[in-house]
Amino acid sequence: MSSLVVAVDGTSGSGKSSTCRAVAERLGLRYLDTGAMYRAVAWWMLQHDVNIYEVDEVAAHAATPRLESGTDPRNPTITLDGTDVSVEIRSDAVNAAVSPVSAVPAVRARLVELQRAAIGDGGIVVEGRDIGSVVWPQAQLKVYLTADPAARAARRALEAGSADVAATQESLLSRDRIDSSRAVSPLTMADGAVHIDTTDLSLAEVVDLVVGLATAPADVS
Ligand code: DC
Repeated sequence: MSSLVVAVDGTSGSGKSSTCRAVAERLGLRYLDTGAMYRAVAWWMLQHDVNIYEVDEVAAHAATPRLESGTDPRNPTITLDGTDVSVEIRSDAVNAAVSPVSAVPAVRARLVELQRAAIGDGGIVVEGRDIGSVVWPQAQLKVYLTADPAARAARRALEAGSADVAATQESLLSRDRIDSSRAVSPLTMADGAVHIDTTDLSLAEVVDLVVGLATAPADVS
């Protein structure tokens, strides 16, 4: 069993999910989408009429949702209290709620604990914002993915089947602003991370780059 941990952080829409799933499949590793966990908690808060802008209110409920993440890269799942919420967590309502919810320290503390438990003995590709910096700084390979805002918005709009690329770009940039400026674990490039700008690269090219780095980690500096 591989003990390899590949930590992939970066902005929304930089290609993290598609890259991580493909890399995990190629290398026979598990896959953990930590953004889905923050999204599921945000969805739970909305469903339970928690005021997501009241830090104390969100913190008081941070430990309540029962979350489980399936780590098969071919079929990643996320369940809340036993119900699959993979579709619900991609809604516009969750897109708008997830950054404020994920800025609450009690939410982060709980999810980081669950993420570390899921990583366990390794053999996993983990995507998020703070994996290489906070969750698993000892990862053998850390990658930081970015892309120009226009390219990111075009990809996300395509995924979501939306024609409104401008609105998608505004939503992405708004999340980036909150994610990068929050007090706890802001989005940042971890020490030792390899930066890949995916703007002009195809998915296959990014996957090849990451697989190459993962199979020759000694070359990474
Ligand atoms: O990767 P994503 O767009 O699904 O992430 C959704 C939100 O969750 C994003 O606004 C930032 C937050 N997030 C985080 O704060 N820390 C992580 N490790 C992963 C995601």
